[in-house]
Amino acid sequence: MKKMKFTKQRKKIEELEKLITDLPSSGDTQQIDEAKKESTTKIKVERLPYSYSALSRFIDSETMNTHYNKHYKGYVEKLNLALEKIKDKDLDLENIIKGISRYNVTIHNNAGGAYNHELFWKMLSPKQQKPNGPVYDKIVKKYGDYEKFKQEFTRKAKTVFGSGWVWLVLTKSGDLKIMTTRNQDNPLMNSITDGGYPLLGLDLWEHAYYLKYRNKRDEYVKNFFTVINWSFINFRFDSKTKKKINETRDVKNIIIEGASRGCNASQVNTYRQIFNTNPEVKKKFMFAIMNILKEVFADFWYEKNQYGEGQMSGVYDYEQPGRSVINKLNTNYTAFCTLVNDINEVLKKYGVDTINMVGQKPEVQLKETERLIKYLIEFRYRIFNPEASTFKTLMSGLDTTNKFGDKREVNAVDNMKKIFGTDEVLKVGELGDVNDMLGGVDAIIKIDGIEKTAQIKPFSRTEEKDGIITVYDTGNVKRYKVDYLVFHRDNKGTLVFSNKNTNIVNGNYTFPAEDLLNK
Ligand code: FE2
Repeated sequence: MKKMKFTKQRKKIEELEKLITDLPSSGDTQQIDEAKKESTTKIKVERLPYSYSALSRFIDSETMNTHYNKHYKGYVEKLNLALEKIKDKDLDLENIIKGISRYNVTIHNNAGGAYNHELFWKMLSPKQQKPNGPVYDKIVKKYGDYEKFKQEFTRKAKTVFGSGWVWLVLTKSGDLKIMTTRNQDNPLMNSITDGGYPLLGLDLWEHAYYLKYRNKRDEYVKNFFTVINWSFINFRFDSKTKKKINETRDVKNIIIEGASRGCNASQVNTYRQIFNTNPEVKKKFMFAIMNILKEVFADFWYEKNQYGEGQMSGVYDYEQPGRSVINKLNTNYTAFCTLVNDINEVLKKYGVDTINMVGQKPEVQLKETERLIKYLIEFRYRIFNPEASTFKTLMSGLDTTNKFGDKREVNAVDNMKKIFGTDEVLKVGELGDVNDMLGGVDAIIKIDGIEKTAQIKPFSRTEEKDGIITVYDTGNVKRYKVDYLVFHRDNKGTLVFSNKNTNIVNGNYTFPAEDLLNK
């Protein structure tokens, strides 16, 4: 008796403790939310990896301070301002650089400035390093000896008239090349012919040296060779040539313990567009996810009807009794976006090309999706792990989508009763119900004893032109075998269309105006 009472008390204490630790302090969550918002909506300012005076044999601390705080931060700031005005964009700086030709001149210059300096800081080392490693070996092979390379690099630097950079790059064919770029251009920009992957670069703008060297730019170039970060340039070379991710070390840290970047609204919209205009991408993703879930969640996996009559195959009893929201992962473009962003963080760290499908041709998007899937399979047990921050982001996103969907359907059904003039409108298609998953049936309407089916979707607005109504932002756009397509938005009401003449144009539903039943 005494023991039981003790157990009970202990349990109560545990519950209370759990409640306390689960309670977020409001300041913290706000901060986290803000930090998260920042990290997904903006290009970040990279930290200077040493003090302003650490490179005194090359540059004075006053120049370093101004260079970093005024010039570099200025580029990032102006870049973010310019990106705010752009709809279909990528927030991966390297991707922007690689696809620079599709951006305006402000973004071109400031993205270049941000990227060049971000690299430049890392290419310099406070500790003097002896030239070494695969890049050094390759230099000796190509230029005869290191002195000759220095001469050639210095000669090239001299040819830069006005502002620009001199680079050592790795060409597509795997050769080394010294080249220059004007202003804030970078060899990786697709606007540069015969560019390459930058291994080493030197800022030749006056702002980088004038205070210390005045007009003696040669002297500045000469001292540059004493601060080269050989570890970094060899790392860049290795990651580009070996293209192998060392899975055992940092990848684990990033995917499991690191912060998931998630996706902001504009990114989600971009991936929604890709999903809705490129069905092959969606098909490949769906298929891969189902196979991964089946394997990773083997203990929770039920085949069709095994869990109950009329139930779909999938994960059950995972985060809640019944069907798990995780089954919605395969058709969810927010999740798709999150996976691309988070995997790109890892790839970037290893200098591997990031996945880039924004603004690309359908066949490129498909190739990039295949790469994404390759990494999803490779890291499946890390990503789909309750401790992984990527997984937490995915689950909370799916949960929110699911709750919104439920609420939308309840409200739409209420309106449909008025529109059809009958109380016999029944919401079906609970999460995982075979009606929902297979046929996309959200509601059944009984009219004169005959059952009609409807799919309910969100929307933002409609547009009517030449007797055709286009409905925008309707989530997943695909064909459904239902009698009606219903669009609902709480502050705009419910639109019921006959599904007979439905068309999909540019990833949006269109209907003849007369097919709108409630005008
Ligand atoms: Fe600079």
